Amino acid sequence: MSAEGFSLEKGEPLEEKTDGLYDEMGSNRRALILGAGKLDIDGVIDFWQDYDHVVYVDRSYVETATIAEIEHGFMTEETSISFYSGDIFEFLDTFKFMFNIVIAERIFEHMFYDSGEIGRLLDACNQVTTDDGDLTIVVPNANTLSRILQNIDQGKSTNQGGDLLIVNTEFCNTRCDPHGSVWTPELAKIYIEQKEGGTWKIESIQEIHEHKGRSVYMQIYCKKPQSAIN
Ligand SMILES: C[S@@+](CC[C@H](N)C(=O)[O-])C[C@H]1O[C@@H](n2cnc3c(N)ncnc32)[C@H](O)[C@@H]1O
Repeated sequence: MSAEGFSLEKGEPLEEKTDGLYDEMGSNRRALILGAGKLDIDGVIDFWQDYDHVVYVDRSYVETATIAEIEHGFMTEETSISFYSGDIFEFLDTFKFMFNIVIAERIFEHMFYDSGEIGRLLDACNQVTTDDGDLTIVVPNANTLSRILQNIDQGKSTNQGGDLLIVNTEFCNTRCDPHGSVWTPELAKIYIEQKEGGTWKIESIQEIHEHKGRSVYMQIYCKKPQSAIN
């Protein structure tokens, strides 16, 4: 399919925008990594071997492609790897192609509970994924953090400096990039399946998940509920 053969008007419903396009692209596999942060090049290459088009989004990147350039790569290249510097919502609300998988590692805890951002992000991820698409979320598990906190509090911590850093970072993070919501397995079920979204169904939760050398996270695998598709 040529770039010329592809025309989308902004504001068209996403299904209409992407249905035919996805079919025409056959077995093309696409992944979106939200709040990707600092990249490790081996991880990027591994990922690219599994997917034809991979897009990394983070507002901290310096030099990046525009959304239009990334879309153009999807239309004209067999494979592409792209970096977009900007807000995740800006990308999700604008980008015109669907993905097979969205990976959101350590980004959902940056969504402020009181602003409704958790539900907004869940919905936006839903809008850019295929019907059989996956959403993988990694967030700090506040139950694990609470156990570390109790150990410090009861004088049982064997690594007080490290534990203080972990609980403060994972509960609050930094002034310029604060955390805005607390996550446990039960809270994840409430946020994802009841209160906020209802557009995703949790397939499994790994309550202790090691990420970046810390075992204080949990990993949540989500699929779209079949009833919402049929
Ligand atoms: C804790 S880091 C996680 C990085 C990486 N995913 C990881 O697990 O190591 C959170 C990242 O999310 C990015 N971020 C937070 N809110 C964002 C937003 N609204 N739009 C784009 N990026 C955002 C920050 O710039 C930061 O790089």
